[in-house]
Amino acid sequence: MSDFLSGYSIQRWLESCPQGYLEHTSFGHAPELEEPALILDNPVLHDQAIDLTVLLVIGERCALAASSGLINSAPDEASKRFLATQTLDEARHVEIFTQRLYDLGVKKTELEDVLRQRANPHLVDFANVLLEKVDKKDFIAGVVGQNIVLEGMAFSVFEMIYAGNQTMNPKFAQVLSGTIADERRHVGFGENRIGSLIAEHPEKKAEVEKMQKDMSYHMLATFSGAFNRSREAMAVGRELNAAQRAEQGEVVWHGANLTTASPEEMEAVLGDTVLKEFKVRLGRIGLEYQTPDRPSAAA
Ligand SMILES: [Fe+2]
Ligand SMILES: [Fe+2]
Repeated sequence: MSDFLSGYSIQRWLESCPQGYLEHTSFGHAPELEEPALILDNPVLHDQAIDLTVLLVIGERCALAASSGLINSAPDEASKRFLATQTLDEARHVEIFTQRLYDLGVKKTELEDVLRQRANPHLVDFANVLLEKVDKKDFIAGVVGQNIVLEGMAFSVFEMIYAGNQTMNPKFAQVLSGTIADERRHVGFGENRIGSLIAEHPEKKAEVEKMQKDMSYHMLATFSGAFNRSREAMAVGRELNAAQRAEQGEVVWHGANLTTASPEEMEAVLGDTVLKEFKVRLGRIGLEYQTPDRPSAAA
């Protein structure tokens, strides 16, 4: 266990992250990059950009609460130190996405109101299932909920948004690419550390599997609500960006062409991708994936 954890040391983190891919960035991107004028000027696209970024801030605030909350229940020193690096990563994610809200014109005094008004209730439920485990100092459930479920979800969501923004919004794409690199490290830790603990505590399996099922349900409901709300913005963006889109060609992500897919198709491919990854990762740590109920209607 300690051998693998040496890959998650603070020294390794310093070299790869702050002294590596984040070097010379400001809030996660090259200082000269800005939000595209189209997003700032078109009310529908602007509203959608705020909506999406609010989702990211709320998800990252949950990750910050979970990773910091798990430090004191970690059973070994190397895990505590890794979680300390993760805590700083998550705090950074909260900060860079909050900064994006400011770049989009949200006033600092309005931030909490904007987050409250636009929060997707299903994402709040998703976070609460996890934070309840963290509050009970349940390290095994907390790490599975955080580093496998929450971060597995975040990883695919960020990748999909990155694919859609690579050409259209280089500033946001760079912010996302640094975040994706962080999330990859966090998911790796979860898988590597928790397998042996599950093997030592088979009595925990049923409860942790139920948590995954519940969180997955709230995640699918979050996706459903988010894609439903973005319908108009997707149509407007495609029309206004037609020339640029024609130039960039197809953007294929897990079999879906993101430049032409309907909101329903995008929701389906994202949900399926994340659930498939849960299944693989849970299998590797000795847990059995539970198929979640499907949310009936978009919220
Ligand atoms: Fe994060
Ligand atoms: Fe993370």
